[in-house]
Amino acid sequence: MEIVIKPNCEAMSHCAGDFVEAWLSRKPDLVLGLATGSTPLGLYRELARRHRDSGLSFARVTTFNLDEYIGLPADHPQSYHSFMRESLFRRLDLDPRRTHLPDGNAADIAAECAAYEAAIRAAGGIDLQVLGIGHDGHIGFNEPSSSLRSRTRIKTLTEQTIRANARFFGGADKVPHHAITVGVGTIFEAQCCLLLATGTEKAGAVAAAVEGPLTAMCPASALQFHEFCTLIVDEAAAVGLKRRDYYRYVYDGKPDWQQWEKTGA
Ligand code: F6R
Repeated sequence: MEIVIKPNCEAMSHCAGDFVEAWLSRKPDLVLGLATGSTPLGLYRELARRHRDSGLSFARVTTFNLDEYIGLPADHPQSYHSFMRESLFRRLDLDPRRTHLPDGNAADIAAECAAYEAAIRAAGGIDLQVLGIGHDGHIGFNEPSSSLRSRTRIKTLTEQTIRANARFFGGADKVPHHAITVGVGTIFEAQCCLLLATGTEKAGAVAAAVEGPLTAMCPASALQFHEFCTLIVDEAAAVGLKRRDYYRYVYDGKPDWQQWEKTGA
């Protein structure tokens, strides 16, 4: 894993923007895996700014989101369909036919999950997967105890995740209890994973994911087994990392030619 520690959320988002842009310049028809939640919002603003000010184009990009609530109308303001439309899609030159989210209102959820996996495969697989991390170490909605080889399926949200997401819904009682999420195994097949984290409340999860044991109790720890995984975190999210001085030393000493290559740290 490559661990990049930036002073604050803004610097983290800028750095993540550089990372995505580097991928896009190498592969304009990138297949990009996307997350929702607060963490990637700075990155999405950064991508929108680069598109607006420097003409960074997403015209040939295909996107797949990680998850969607079950039973929430797609046009509900808190659906992930709405979230992505507002925070990113409408700000870029993406082809709407190439943006994908699971359909949380499908009549047959199991068939929808299988179709989502098939669509990812048909697109050639995810090149770059953007991830946030939950307080309990979840990625997507793969809550602790999720199989580390899981595929796209229905998951029940933990009480902690429901409480954490209550801020978007104006109360925990309004948060759906179920979601479709791509699996840890699905995430694992991405060519490269980029996990972002900000704030002290994520420090425990980041430390468990990076330096803890590989365990289904912290699904993000599966990324230790991924060949090309970069974490970009701010200082606050890094406070629990015992070897943070070493990670800084490694990153600061990286030669220019190696910046944002798939370094396999
Ligand atoms: C949502 C997702 C989740 C979030 C996680 C952190 O698509 O992938 O795993 O990344 O719940 O959420 P925030 O960023 O709101 O703290």
